[in-house]
Amino acid sequence: MNPVALITGASRGIGRGIAGELAKIGYDLVINYAGNADAARQTRDECVKLGANKIRAEVCQADVSIAADRLRLVEFVRQTFGRLDLLVNNAGVAPAVRADILEAGEESFDRLININLKGPYFLTQLVARWMVEQTKAAGSGYRPKIVIVSSISAYTASSNRGDYCVSKAGVAMMAKLYAARLAEHGILVFEIRPGVIATDMTGPVKAKYDALIAGGLTPIKRWGQPEDIGRAVAAVAQDLLPFSTGEVINVDGGFHLRTL
Ligand SMILES: NC(=O)c1ccc[n+]([C@@H]2O[C@H](COP(=O)([O-])OP(=O)(O)OC[C@H]3O[C@@H](n4cnc5c(N)ncnc54)[C@H](OP(=O)(O)O)[C@@H]3O)[C@@H](O)[C@H]2O)c1
Repeated sequence: MNPVALITGASRGIGRGIAGELAKIGYDLVINYAGNADAARQTRDECVKLGANKIRAEVCQADVSIAADRLRLVEFVRQTFGRLDLLVNNAGVAPAVRADILEAGEESFDRLININLKGPYFLTQLVARWMVEQTKAAGSGYRPKIVIVSSISAYTASSNRGDYCVSKAGVAMMAKLYAARLAEHGILVFEIRPGVIATDMTGPVKAKYDALIAGGLTPIKRWGQPEDIGRAVAAVAQDLLPFSTGEVINVDGGFHLRTL
């Protein structure tokens, strides 16, 4: 029986890259999306190919910011696969408009906190309870993991999108909290912290980042790709870090380094 992963926001971008890498290592997948059903089905079909037709992938629409949708999503995994080995909290949004912190409104703040922080916080709570039940029922072969996709914005102050930065700083703490609480149950929790990654989210600022990267923003002078994040998740999924939890894995081309 294949292990099972639930990836939120896997219709596009980083989530799709993660799904693909997990398919390659033999995970069955639940591909969650918010509104883009065609893209989610495309991820599913690509993953089945990447998994050499030996994996099963299903799509499930759910808005992670809505409590009833989170319950339905977890119930979908339970009914479809009967188990869950890996939760990847990836779904996230940027502000619709970048606005100066002295001007930005509450509507954008509430939207970002609800999707980027409250959604994964309570989805993880639901999944963690179920994983604890599963650890009691299953043998020692069951080694569940939870991954949280944060951002370099967890510690980098961009005062034209403070709402986004605050939401990502929040999920960074969330990873530590769940890591501390779940270790006794053998459930490991990791924060994966992407740098600048080429997706729809960064499309509108491509020219700006092209110039910054060429000018030395990151020691590794290239855009990150969704697969770069996918490979880090695959390392966690393969249990390659069994004595670590609450760890921050920077996948940022070295952006976090201070140099002199
Ligand atoms: N790109 C970067 O440079 C970068 C850097 C650091 C961190 N990140 C983080 O990485 C994650 C993925 O970003 P990305 O660049 O891949 O973004 P993206 O290309 O815009 O894709 C966003 C994904 O999230 C889904 N989504 C949005 N709102 C949702 C909701 N309420 N419920 C469920 N799913 C929802 C979207 O589904 P639909 O297709 O249905 O809309 C889509 O699959 C985010 O958490 C982001 O903050 C990105």
